[in-house]
Amino acid sequence: MANLINTITSSRVWKSFFRHGWPDTEMNRSLVMTTNIFFHLHPVKVSRRSLRATYTWGLGVLSVIMFLTLAVTGALIMLYYVPSTEMAYRNIVDLQTKVPYGQLMRNMHRWAAHGMVLIVVLHMVRVFYTGAYKPPREFNWGVGIVLLLLTLGASFTGYLLPWDQLSYWAITVGTNIAGYTPLIGPQIRLMLLGGFEVGQNALTRFYALHIMFIPAAMLGIMSLHIWRVRKDGGLAAQDQANGSPTTAEGETVVTEEIEPEERFTRGPVKTYGLMALVRGESRMVERGPDDTVFSFPIVAILELLLTLGAILLLAFFSLVRNAPLEELANPDLTTNPAKAPWYFMALQELLLHMHPVLAGILVPGAVVLFLVALPYLDTDRSDSGRWFASRRGPKWVYFTALYTVVAQAFLIYFDEVMGLRGLGAASPLILQFIGPLMFGVILFGLPLLVIWRLKPTYRELMLVIFTIIITSAVTLTISGFLFRGPGMHLYPPWDMPGGYDPWSSL
Ligand code: HEM
Repeated sequence: MANLINTITSSRVWKSFFRHGWPDTEMNRSLVMTTNIFFHLHPVKVSRRSLRATYTWGLGVLSVIMFLTLAVTGALIMLYYVPSTEMAYRNIVDLQTKVPYGQLMRNMHRWAAHGMVLIVVLHMVRVFYTGAYKPPREFNWGVGIVLLLLTLGASFTGYLLPWDQLSYWAITVGTNIAGYTPLIGPQIRLMLLGGFEVGQNALTRFYALHIMFIPAAMLGIMSLHIWRVRKDGGLAAQDQANGSPTTAEGETVVTEEIEPEERFTRGPVKTYGLMALVRGESRMVERGPDDTVFSFPIVAILELLLTLGAILLLAFFSLVRNAPLEELANPDLTTNPAKAPWYFMALQELLLHMHPVLAGILVPGAVVLFLVALPYLDTDRSDSGRWFASRRGPKWVYFTALYTVVAQAFLIYFDEVMGLRGLGAASPLILQFIGPLMFGVILFGLPLLVIWRLKPTYRELMLVIFTIIITSAVTLTISGFLFRGPGMHLYPPWDMPGGYDPWSSL
C-alpha cells in the first residue's frame, strides 16, 4: 500500500497537480500558499495580531463569502428567470413552488444580499475605528468606498427583478431620490430607467447591471482591494506589532498598548515574502520576538470555518423565513407606505425633514466626500491599527453615539409633532433652512463644541464626526424602516394601522 501511494505521489501526473509535498515542513507550508491560486492572496506568514478575531471580526473575508454565495445562488436562479414584465413575476412564483430547492435558493440569495450590505458597512466601520485607513492604506480605503457603493448598487438593482408591488414601488421611490440631483437629476433617472416610469426598459437595464456590469466590476475591484492589502504591508494591526510605529514625520512613537516584551525596536515593517523561506540571519535578528505565524494551515482553517458558519446561518434564516413576494407589480396602485429598500431608508427618512436636494444629494454627497477625504486629512500613522486611537477614544465614541441617538430621535419626533414638513409646503424656507440648520447645530455643533474644549487630537476629532454620521444613519434607518407606517407617519411598530408589518419588506 505504502508503495502504491509512493508511486502515485511521485508520478508526473500527481506532481503536475500538487507541486509540493505534505505540508508538514516549513518549506511545504510556504509552498502551499505560493502555489495555490486562492491561498496566494495571503502572505506565507502573517502577524498574530492581524489574526485576532477582535481585530477584523472576519468582516472582510465574510464580505467575500457573501459575494461568492450570491454569485452561486444567483447563477442558479438565472436558469429560470426571464427579465420581462410579462414573465418575471410568474418565473419567481414557479421558482418558489415548482423548482426543487428553488425557494431555498431564492431565500439564500436574498439573505446573503441583505447580509452583504450589512457586513460591508460593518467592515468599513471596523476599518475606520482601527485607524486602518491611514497611509499607506488611503488608496485601499478609497477602493473600499467604491466597493461599498457597488454593493448597494448590486442590491438595489436586484430588488426590482421579482416585479411585484414591493419591488416596483421601492425602485420608484429609490430612483426618485436619484432624480433630485441638481441639474442632471432627471437625466440620471432617465438613464437608469430607460424611460420616465419603471417599466420594461428599467427591468432590462436593472437586470443587465445586476447580473453583469456590477458583479464584473466588483470582482475586478475586490481583487485589487485584496491585492492592495498585501502590498500595503498586510493588515494595519501589524503596524502596532512591528515595533514602535512612526509618525508622518518619521518620529518613533511608543504605544502604551503593547507590552514591552512584545515590542520590537524599529524593525522592518514587512515580514512576509521570501524571508520566511530563508534560513539564517535576517534584519529581524535580535530586534525582538517574532510575531508571525505560518499562514498555512491556520488561515485556511479560519476561513473554512467562517465559510461554513456563514452558509449554515444563511441556510437557517432561509428555512425560517421566506423572501417576500407580494402581488404582481401594478403601476396604478400605489402601496401605502411606499418605502425604498432598508439601506436607503436613512435617505428617505431625511427627505421627510428637509429639501429633497439637501436630503437626497447634498447630505449623502458630503458624507461620501468626507469618507474619501478622511485618510488625506488624518495622516498621523502612530495609532494606525489601534482600536479607537487613544485611551479616551472609546469613552468619546460611546458618549457621542448615545448623544446622537437621543438627539436624532428627538429631532425626528419633534418634526413629526410640530409638523415642520407640513409647514414646509407653505414656506419652502422652513424646508430649506430651518430644518437642516436645526439638524446641523444639534447633531454636530453641540458635541463638537464640547469636544473642542477637551483639546482633541485630529484623529479623536475624526472619531467623533464619524460616530455622529454612522449613528445618525443607523437611527434614521431604524426610524424609517421600523416606525414609519401609512402616510409615512410615526407609529409603534407593533401597532401599525391597517395591519401594516414593517418587517414584511425584508
Ligand atoms: C465588497 C466589499 C469589500 C470586500 C469584499 C472587502 C474585503 C477585504 C478583506 C478580505 C480585507 C482583509 C481582511 C479584513 O480586514 O477583514 C480587507 C481589508 C481592508 N478593507 Fe475591505 N472589503 C470591502 C469593502 C471595504 C470598504 C467599504 C472599505 C472602507 C471604506 C474597506 C477598506 C479596507 C481597508 C483599509 C483594509 C485594510 C484593513 C487593515 O489594514 O486593517 N473595504 N477588505
